[in-house]
Amino acid sequence: MDKIIEFNNEVNKNIENIANDKKLKKQSLDWNIASAQYNYTYNFRSLGRPIIQFPQDIVAVQELIWEVKPDLIIETGIAHGGSLICYASMLALLDMCDAIESDSILDPKQSHRKLLGVDIDIRAHNRKAIEAHPMASHIQMIEGSSIAPEIIEQVRKVAKGYERILVCLDSYHTHDHVLEELEAYAPLTSVDSYCVVFDTVVEDMPADMFPDRPWGSGNNPKTAVWEYLKTHPEFEIDKSIQNKLLITVAPDGYLKRIS
Ligand SMILES: C[S@@+](CC[C@H](N)C(=O)[O-])C[C@H]1O[C@@H](n2cnc3c(N)ncnc32)[C@H](O)[C@@H]1O
Repeated sequence: MDKIIEFNNEVNKNIENIANDKKLKKQSLDWNIASAQYNYTYNFRSLGRPIIQFPQDIVAVQELIWEVKPDLIIETGIAHGGSLICYASMLALLDMCDAIESDSILDPKQSHRKLLGVDIDIRAHNRKAIEAHPMASHIQMIEGSSIAPEIIEQVRKVAKGYERILVCLDSYHTHDHVLEELEAYAPLTSVDSYCVVFDTVVEDMPADMFPDRPWGSGNNPKTAVWEYLKTHPEFEIDKSIQNKLLITVAPDGYLKRIS
């Protein structure tokens, strides 16, 4: 058998086996819950900017960006800008790969690819650092609530100019908010691309885990995903991603657009 196919088959088998390993899955969730008390996701940087993600999810999005090769990534929830910078740097790498493959000269500041970020509160020091970053030429930011009609309209207008769109939802983690985001932005996802809904793991955590937050068990991004999928058969949960990651903030949150 072809060695590459053989290796891929082995990995797929590993992932299937993990999916059936209830003990390992529980241990992974226990670790996730235990690390949350130290705000573990705050510990990382992408090209110098704080990114509030598990390293595993960063790798998963990197794999999706390579697979989908989006020309537009829409992300709600900017915070310090780390995820914007991270995904923008992957778009810049796609530009570089295109230039190498087509044997053309690349102007790294000119790109047909874009990272569009939306946040209700882009703090001045974060905006300054993002705008001063070398990846800024790939980034556009919109300030406002991601579910405000005028913001949705602005995002839709930008999206009109793009063909392959990937969406990441990582802003306010209540059921109602995420459901409204899904209604507004998931339809912009291209077929065979993904809408990634972060922090679905809140549903699997103890009910008293976030006493100072409005979200918790029964009211969180995962419950919104489940509600949305009832009437949106064009999306399905790509369980193979959470199975291979084990440690993820987005179980049931990697939604693939299949039609
Ligand atoms: C979890 S952080 C985003 C983390 C970022 N994506 C990263 O990976 O580093 C959530 C962000 O959502 C923003 N946010 C809260 N409510 C929002 C709303 N209604 N619309 C848009 N953004 C909102 C907050 O200001 C905060 O910056």
